[in-house]
Amino acid sequence: MILPIYLYGQPALRKPTEDIEPGELDIKTLLSDMQETLTNAEGCGLAAPQIGLSKRLFIVDGTELGEDYPDCVDFRQAFINPEIIEESEETVSYSEGCLSLPGISENVVRPETITIRYQDPDFNWKEETFTGFKARIVQHEYDHLEGHVFTDRISPIRRQFVKGKLTNIAKGKTTARYRYKH
Ligand code: NI
Repeated sequence: MILPIYLYGQPALRKPTEDIEPGELDIKTLLSDMQETLTNAEGCGLAAPQIGLSKRLFIVDGTELGEDYPDCVDFRQAFINPEIIEESEETVSYSEGCLSLPGISENVVRPETITIRYQDPDFNWKEETFTGFKARIVQHEYDHLEGHVFTDRISPIRRQFVKGKLTNIAKGKTTARYRYKH
């Protein structure tokens, strides 16, 4: 089922998220709905707060990134109850966008490499290190679980520049080509 994606201004995007206990949710159905929603929107990541669910869960899917980041094409997985446990001192700047902020893309500086601990859909704990654009997607989605969106991390000058666009999204003056809620 394709779910509506919550847009900037929705309180769900700023709410603290809670851990998911095994058996608490129908995780398989939820993941399948999130995947369908993400594929339909042609995005590369979707976090639970973006569908109005204040839980620690996000999915990534690099299928759409084939041309720009070929190493991400097979990057398709779910992260449950994740925690970033290490970040490199080296940083890198990439242009980011977000399904919750349609029409905005800005350069964001973040650590180049991160290590994350998380549970897979069977609630087995995993620990993995990602670098480059994979690390970028993971950090962007992880931010959603912390109540952040990527424009929180851009320079004050750029934030001033996108302020009008953000206000328009929050006021419901923006449309997107996928199902959404504002
Ligand atoms: Ni996002």
